[in-house]
Amino acid sequence: MSVSEYYHEKRILITGGLGFLGSNLAHKLVSFGAKVTIIDNLDPLYGGNLYNIEQIRTRVKLALGDIQDESLLVPLLSDCDIVFHFAAQVSYIDSQNIPFRDLDLNARTTMSVLEIIRKHKLPVKVVFSSSRMVIGKSNDRIVDETVPTNPLSLYAIHKLTSEKYLQMYHADFGIPVIIFRITNPYGIRQQMKHNKYSLVGWFIRMAMENETITIFGDGRQLRDYIYVEDIIEAFLLSAANPDSNGQIINLGSGYSSEFGEMVNTIVEIVGSGQVKYVDWPANYERIETGNFQVDISKLKSLTGWSPSFTLEQGIRLTYEYYKSNLSYYI
Ligand SMILES: NC(=O)c1ccc[n+]([C@@H]2O[C@H](COP(=O)([O-])OP(=O)(O)OC[C@H]3O[C@@H](n4cnc5c(N)ncnc54)[C@H](O)[C@@H]3O)[C@@H](O)[C@H]2O)c1
Repeated sequence: MSVSEYYHEKRILITGGLGFLGSNLAHKLVSFGAKVTIIDNLDPLYGGNLYNIEQIRTRVKLALGDIQDESLLVPLLSDCDIVFHFAAQVSYIDSQNIPFRDLDLNARTTMSVLEIIRKHKLPVKVVFSSSRMVIGKSNDRIVDETVPTNPLSLYAIHKLTSEKYLQMYHADFGIPVIIFRITNPYGIRQQMKHNKYSLVGWFIRMAMENETITIFGDGRQLRDYIYVEDIIEAFLLSAANPDSNGQIINLGSGYSSEFGEMVNTIVEIVGSGQVKYVDWPANYERIETGNFQVDISKLKSLTGWSPSFTLEQGIRLTYEYYKSNLSYYI
């Protein structure tokens, strides 16, 4: 069975589905004929945006509300086959200032989803968007899924807590789960309102507005940037594959670029903007993870997936999108 056949008529719930990853996933699923429901509260701190689903608005069900509201969540989970649980407090920087909110959104809501599924004996698969941040400093190792975790921010601690809940509910109650540790995602439909997360989008905006982009340190730290279309394909192939159940899976491009190279590529493609190097601010340096290179062989061998977009191609596509749509994202 092809992936599109697998998802045809499947009932899919996407929490945080008006945001970057969720809305791109919704577009693909709708094209496969899936029955997509989104729950999102459009919290202005994050990337939720009604414009993200404008072209598919009549083909998805939208519940505008908070995922912390269990009275909303129970009927939605009762009516789905797979939940992609993406709603979150997404900024690791903010997590240090709003610790309990981060705990609620990055850990407690995962437990709520799992508890509802367990209590009501729902046949629902849970796909979770964790982060490379659970690893902490890579100390120049190539990071596979067995590298010990040492999270450096509350965001990462709470994402790791969610991973533990998911693994436990899988082992003890047989709930099918998949945990993706996503590296540095970028692409179309990503918020550009602030620079608290998703720097690629923010820098594209700055370059488009001919601003100066500041790089901390020498800009030589390695990051694995992955274009959103590659991410969505990996989500869909994995969730359709029973061998992925119970697995933690790295989701990156498998290729790391220097931070400065990413910025310079943006400035070159956009054709405006400047670059300035400054020292690391003290509060960032402690939680800066250093070089990050990720091993994606597990994802490849489970699904046959491999990335299709280079950083340059992805930035070009993203820029083309914002050339026509910038006003909806700033
Ligand atoms: N963007 C990244 O750099 C990155 C990297 C790794 C993992 N992730 C994870 O991927 C997931 C999706 O992130 P994204 O990049 O699409 O971010 P995003 O900000 O674009 O999307 C998050 C969505 O969650 C919604 N949301 C937040 N709180 C909510 C609540 N209480 N109730 C209902 N909806 C709520 C927001 O309105 C938004 O639409 C998150 O779990 C994030 O932690 C993101």
